[in-house]
Amino acid sequence: MNHSLISVDQFDKEGLQQLFVLAGQLKRRELPVRLSSSVVSVNLFYEPSTRTSSSFFSAMVKLGGSVIPINDVTFSSVSKGETLEDTVRVMSSYSDVIVLRHPQVGSSRRAADMAGVPVINAGDGAGEHPTQALLDLYTINRHHDLNQRLRVALVGDLLHGRTVHSLLKLLRLYDVEVHLVGPPELAMPAELVRDGDYVHSSIDECISHMDVIYVTRVQKERFTEPHLVSTEPYRITPSVMAKARPDLTLMHPLPRVDEIDPAVDRDPRAVYFEQCENGMWIRQAVFVSLFGGGSVPWHSS
Ligand code: NCD
Repeated sequence: MNHSLISVDQFDKEGLQQLFVLAGQLKRRELPVRLSSSVVSVNLFYEPSTRTSSSFFSAMVKLGGSVIPINDVTFSSVSKGETLEDTVRVMSSYSDVIVLRHPQVGSSRRAADMAGVPVINAGDGAGEHPTQALLDLYTINRHHDLNQRLRVALVGDLLHGRTVHSLLKLLRLYDVEVHLVGPPELAMPAELVRDGDYVHSSIDECISHMDVIYVTRVQKERFTEPHLVSTEPYRITPSVMAKARPDLTLMHPLPRVDEIDPAVDRDPRAVYFEQCENGMWIRQAVFVSLFGGGSVPWHSS
C-alpha cells in the first residue's frame, strides 16, 4: 500500500474529519504522542521554503523523530546532475518518509513511484500543495461551519498558485460558493473552474458578502518572461476590510509581498499567522497518521 500524499484528491470528507480531529487533539495536547525515536524524515527541498520546511521539521522533532534537512540542493549531488529519481531512491534507503518540494508539476508522483517510503508533496511547481490546503481548510473549519453554505473568494495569482489549486479541490467537497478574483492573465486553470463560479477582476465586486477571503502573491518565479502585474485591484487594506463582514476570515498562505497591507494584521479577522501555527499541527497529524499505528485517513496514491 502506497501511503504517499501527492494530491488532495486522495481525501474524502471522512478522511478530512479524521485528520482534523487528530490535529485538534495534538494542538490541545490531549494526545501525548511520541513516535519511535528511530523514525527519520528527509526534507528534500529544490525550491525556497521557510514555513513548510520548518513546520515539517518541527513536527517530526517534537514527535521524537529526526530529520535529514536538504534545503539547498545546490550543495547536494543534484548540482552534479543527479536525477530526482536517483536522489529519491537513495534517500528512501536512509529514511522512513520523504517530504519533497520541487519546481516541476508531477515531480512528487514521479518520486513516489521510485521511493520505497511514502513521499509527501510539499509543493510540485504550480501543481499542488496538499498539506497547505489541509491546514487552510482546518483553519476555515475553526472559524466557520463547513456544513453551512460558505462564500469563499480566492484572490491573486490563481494560475500559478498551487495552494489555491489544492484548496479549491477540497472546497468542492462542501457547499461552497466560489469567487475567483484576480488579473485575467493569472486566471484559475479552466479544468478547476465550474459553472456557477463567479469571476471578478476587483475585490470590491464581492468583498461585502464573503465569509472567507484567501489572498495569494504573484508567483513571479513561475513566469517565463518578466511581466508586470498590478495587485492594486485586489490589495487588502484597512479601508477594504471596512467593507467586509464582521465574521470574515482573511487568509494568506504567506509569504506576502504587497497584497495585504501590514496594517491589516491587527484586524482580528486576519488569521494568516494562525494558519502557520496550524500547519505544524496538521503536519504532526500527517506523521502520526503514517507512523502512529492507526489507519491512514487518505486513500493510497
Ligand atoms: C506557498 C507555496 O510555497 O506555494 N508558501 C507556503 O508553502 N506557505 C505560497 C507562496 O509561495 O506564495
